[in-house]
Amino acid sequence: MSTQNFKEFWKLGKAEFDTQFFDISKDGELLVKEGNYQYNLHELAKKYETSLEMAFPFIIEHRVETLINTFNFYIKKYKYRGKFYFHYPMKVNQNREFILPLITEGANLETASANELWIVKRLWEQHKFNSRIKVICNGPKTDEYLSLIKELRGQGLDIVPIIENHHEYESLKNYKGEVGIRVDLNFRTKSHWDHSVDRFGFTPDELFDLGKMRNLKILHYHVGSHIPHANDIIKALKEGLSIYKKLKKINPQLDTIDIGGGFNVNFEKKKMYSVQGVVQRIVSYLAKHTGDDGIAPPHIICEWGSHIMAPSQVTIFKVLYEKNINKGAAARKWYVIDGSFMNDLIDTWAIKQKWHVVPVNNLNSKKLERVWLCGSSCDSDDKYTGGSYVRLPKLEEGESQYVAFIDTGAYQDALGSQHCLLSAPANIVCQDGDIKIARAHETAEDVGKKFGW
Ligand SMILES: Cc1ncc(COP(=O)(O)O)c(C=O)c1O
Repeated sequence: MSTQNFKEFWKLGKAEFDTQFFDISKDGELLVKEGNYQYNLHELAKKYETSLEMAFPFIIEHRVETLINTFNFYIKKYKYRGKFYFHYPMKVNQNREFILPLITEGANLETASANELWIVKRLWEQHKFNSRIKVICNGPKTDEYLSLIKELRGQGLDIVPIIENHHEYESLKNYKGEVGIRVDLNFRTKSHWDHSVDRFGFTPDELFDLGKMRNLKILHYHVGSHIPHANDIIKALKEGLSIYKKLKKINPQLDTIDIGGGFNVNFEKKKMYSVQGVVQRIVSYLAKHTGDDGIAPPHIICEWGSHIMAPSQVTIFKVLYEKNINKGAAARKWYVIDGSFMNDLIDTWAIKQKWHVVPVNNLNSKKLERVWLCGSSCDSDDKYTGGSYVRLPKLEEGESQYVAFIDTGAYQDALGSQHCLLSAPANIVCQDGDIKIARAHETAEDVGKKFGW
């Protein structure tokens, strides 16, 4: 089989799967190509040791640029009179190496807590961004959070708190700046998350009961992450726009609709909706349904966080050994990795997230085996999702096998834990052909310190 065939087999080098930057060397090693630079992931895994996260800021830049350009393209095409703003939800990945490239490409920010806003404060005070950057603040408005919002507004930052409940409504009654409000739409999309109780936002009726609101600028909703169908994004928009129109009649200064996050990630490398297709539908829907009825086309904010971040990182583990279990339900061949699903890719355990798993070396091996993967914590739940198998090369005597999990850039770091006091993966940043260590391997002492030792 040729390298091209192996690329097809492992679904690498394809834009529709977000693997267009991946390639295979003639020796069967996994490569990432940044223009004319290339990173050999096998070499890097051996050099920096596993478990290892590799971040690729150029992928973040590429995705933000594509998103903004696509919106602007359709805004022009449909002669839409509103503007587009991408607000990056910081909860998705707060690491410095991920946030700075976003800002370079013109992303605005969305915070979920006082601590995230503290990062914004640091950037603002270090003059890292220009005064046109916009920040919107979701999440529970504690006293600390509110006072930081007011402080930054006082310093000239364009900052808009989003009111999510009656308590916040009261606390922000005398706030002098612009505010947004969050609605809990009646529309529900299918996702991993429990939607039986949505604690966030006002119901549409509660919202209308509030009457006229001082300085209301943004109507915001977020229907969930990993929205499975493009139609669901449009159905939510339809309901959101109808609420927007009613609110706008009572609050003429309202001028922005924030459609939240939720654009799906192609974790499993199957057919999925595209940015071009969905953005075209959003802009054309808004263009068609505003204007004529006297409602000016709203500015559009989206907070598609995982879409931007997930493909910008891969996590690499080494297979420590194989273990054949011959009895009971676990009777199969297990590869034990030198990290932990429960700690390092916690969504595997929490929401049964699947990832695209590919070998880092021996990619051109024809000796593939069906194996089940488990982590090195003591927990029997520390295994690759749903107990499903993956195909990986047969282990060769005297040679280490490494495996890569693709699309791990969203949420996993902040949600990560330290079960069995295993060390978190080291993190290297691959940019312009150079490698920078963002987080070194943790020693026993480093981990012990976190627990007061
Ligand atoms: C308000 C809000 N915006 C944006 C996001 C990001 O969602 P996603 O990463 O699915 O795009 C979330 C995720 O929970 C959210 O709660």
